Amino acid sequence: MTGFFITFEGGEGSGKTTQIARLAASLRARGLKVTTTREPGGTPGADALRHVILSGAAKALGPDMEAILFAAARADHVDTVIRPALEGGQIVLCDRFHDSTRVYQGLGGSETALIEVLEAATIGELYPDVTILLDIDAETGLARAAERRGTAVADRFEGEDITLHADRRRAFLSIAAAEPERFIVVDATRSADEIAREIRFIVEDRLESRRLETAGRGTAASVAAGPSPL
Ligand code: TMP
Repeated sequence: MTGFFITFEGGEGSGKTTQIARLAASLRARGLKVTTTREPGGTPGADALRHVILSGAAKALGPDMEAILFAAARADHVDTVIRPALEGGQIVLCDRFHDSTRVYQGLGGSETALIEVLEAATIGELYPDVTILLDIDAETGLARAAERRGTAVADRFEGEDITLHADRRRAFLSIAAAEPERFIVVDATRSADEIAREIRFIVEDRLESRRLETAGRGTAASVAAGPSPL
């Protein structure tokens, strides 16, 4: 796999969508090939499941079945969008991925064993190269999400109790602490410009490390591996 896979995670109103757009624009301005996508969704089938899940229609099926629906959406998304883009040497920026399942369905009552089996079945070895966690306290995040939403109603997860949102923040931070190589925790309470600058700096540094690593492995290996974004 020659591309570079970056996921964005965080609570409601943490600014993932804005930051993905900003990062994509700055990478494209450097001539790099970038695919932006999101979960649940990213394919027609997964978008249909997004609607079913976020409308709350699947809630009555219970947390395990909801986790299975997220997994079905992820499997399609990985197979038809993420893996082909990475194999084509692109940089993939994905708004939420498996860490959201660990946090949201984990705290929602799904068995850890089920979540692990679904993770293995849907993503296999396709773990992100970097995960940017946009960290924000639940109160500020929910206020921002409400402002963005306007008169629309909160979705299945947004509308839940603030204590659960605070638990989710802690759960994301604890996954990040357990995987410091993969995670970069960014303070998302600052201005969008400041956050975008920090993310751009970090990502460029990681891309440069990958470029040096690939160059160190020799040109024959790089040619065999196919096109690279770097
Ligand atoms: P968002 O696209 O606005 O972030 O909405 C997606 C919602 O779905 C968000 O509340 C988090 C939730 N979610 C899960 O519960 N599990 C998952 O695996 C994913 C990807 C999202």
